[in-house]
Amino acid sequence: MCGIIGYIGEKKAVPILLDGLKKLEYRGYDSAGIAILENGDLIFEKSAGKIAALEELLSGRDFACTTGIAHTRWATHGEPTDANAHPHLDCKGELAVVHNGIIENYRSIKEVLERKGHKFTTDTDTEIVAHLIEEYYQGNLVEAVRTAMSQVEGTYGIAVLSLRNPKEIVAARHGSPLVIGCGQGENFIASDVSAILRHTKKVVYLEDRELAVVTKEGFTISTIDNVEVTPKLQEISWTLDEVEKGGFVHFMQKEIFEQPTTIRNAMRGRLNYEEGTSRLNGLNLQMDELQKIKRVVLVACGTSWHAGLIGEYMIEEFARIPAEVEYASEFRYRSPIIYPGTVVLVVSQSGETADSLAALREAKRKGATVLGICNVVGSTIARETDGGVYIHAGAEIGVASTKAFTSQITALALITLLLARQRDMSIETGREILDALQQVPDQVAGLLKKEPEIKELARKYCQTGNALYLGRGINFPVALEGALKLKEISYVHAEGYPAAEMKHGPIALIDERMPVIVLAIKDAIYQKIISNVEEVKARKGVVIAVATEGDKRIREMVDEVFYIPKTHEMLTPLLSVIPLQLLAYHMAVLRGCPVDQPRNLAKSVTVE
Ligand code: G6P
Repeated sequence: MCGIIGYIGEKKAVPILLDGLKKLEYRGYDSAGIAILENGDLIFEKSAGKIAALEELLSGRDFACTTGIAHTRWATHGEPTDANAHPHLDCKGELAVVHNGIIENYRSIKEVLERKGHKFTTDTDTEIVAHLIEEYYQGNLVEAVRTAMSQVEGTYGIAVLSLRNPKEIVAARHGSPLVIGCGQGENFIASDVSAILRHTKKVVYLEDRELAVVTKEGFTISTIDNVEVTPKLQEISWTLDEVEKGGFVHFMQKEIFEQPTTIRNAMRGRLNYEEGTSRLNGLNLQMDELQKIKRVVLVACGTSWHAGLIGEYMIEEFARIPAEVEYASEFRYRSPIIYPGTVVLVVSQSGETADSLAALREAKRKGATVLGICNVVGSTIARETDGGVYIHAGAEIGVASTKAFTSQITALALITLLLARQRDMSIETGREILDALQQVPDQVAGLLKKEPEIKELARKYCQTGNALYLGRGINFPVALEGALKLKEISYVHAEGYPAAEMKHGPIALIDERMPVIVLAIKDAIYQKIISNVEEVKARKGVVIAVATEGDKRIREMVDEVFYIPKTHEMLTPLLSVIPLQLLAYHMAVLRGCPVDQPRNLAKSVTVE
């Protein structure tokens, strides 16, 4: 996730900006940059890599300037190169912009601006903002920003610095947080209070579609439509550590709670309601190429492999294309059969997992079209695939993957929809899925509000030594993921099983002390899962059911129920996994485990 810091005051700006960037480091980033006003010039430096690389570029130079903006980037459009790092400039080099968020309609705006003679030098969506402001600039920076931002679709938090208006920084927000820090004879802009907390605790949060003009002496706020806003000053009482985690105790918990936003980001600009399908330009495949796909092989590791399993169900069931899932580590060594029409889809949050990368190369060697679903833009897997879908989940810091998982499922749902609509799926069904998908973020937010219920369950069962997770159909991979979450962070032995398969072994383990978590969702195979619940109860097992709202019958059969709302069958994993993530999290906390860095595990496994 990108970070913004801006300063205008009487002190030297560069050390304040660099310090602010370092405070934003915990969010993850791939490049950084700075723009300052020095002796009547707009000076900028930017660099891929660590903030140390940017510091190196600035070292040995003593800047007297007291105004500037800076940025850490988590790439969404264009690889993390020096050129793609922010700030981005207009044609004349007089205006610099830093931006968080995603501009959805940047392509069409870019085309128009190019026709008007603007020259673009980066692959980013952000660069259009600098040129758009330049296009509308007639001496009044605020008005130009206002006009420009009323044309963009998507999300933004921006800070704009202009040589021609050196006494102000203009900031605007829609969907990406921005806060103004208020000091004595100095003011700050930041995407996150952690960047400015050492300077001031007095802040004003901008709301969506608000714009601020920040000067040394003060600031004014208005809406994008030019209605004046009275600022609400707040005093921050949190410590820096609390701020970085957004008030959550652990990054994992924060990331679980980010899911309404990250799921929305994964579908942003990609829904084509008119045709009941999705729009995925990054796949780099023409209509006829998509139609020729005969088989999809999904390869991945860990949690991404579970997302792959859900993708298999979706693609086979709804697009009616044969699909199979392979562990990347197995695929790479077993001489996989690739025939014309085979697409290999590599799913990887980091885009760097060694086995997934090796599988990708093996598939390419054998002539497959290789696509990727990645989070980290410009990662090795993203670069080496023929095309793909970025999930735009932002940096995931907790070792146990949560938000990346739900974003991967969202991306897989969009791919399924695209393939399905070219085949048998009707426009009505396509639209039904899109409608359901759009409701998911709010439904997830509703489930997260029920965290206390799960906490209570965790308290009741946290002393267990074993747990069994059962699911069927598209919720079987969710059972696997629930078990993986529990074992990796709480060190409780847990297994996921297809519910019916339980009879062939795990049933021997069931007794009155063994919690059995059953995904008993009302779908086509609901009756079957109810039979499995009965089998567990007959052996005195303790059943915790995740069930569909309105299912009263299940309450009489089991020990505990957690309800999730109805959605389209294909999308149930996006909801059913939420209580399982929370359960694992709270059990680990209660057992005193180091949730964000579980023993022996790594976030990115770059060795075989
Ligand atoms: C590690 C992480 C998991 C992740 C897996 C695959 O094991 O701890 O959370 O699911 O690697 O990583 P990838 O980045 O390829 O999704």
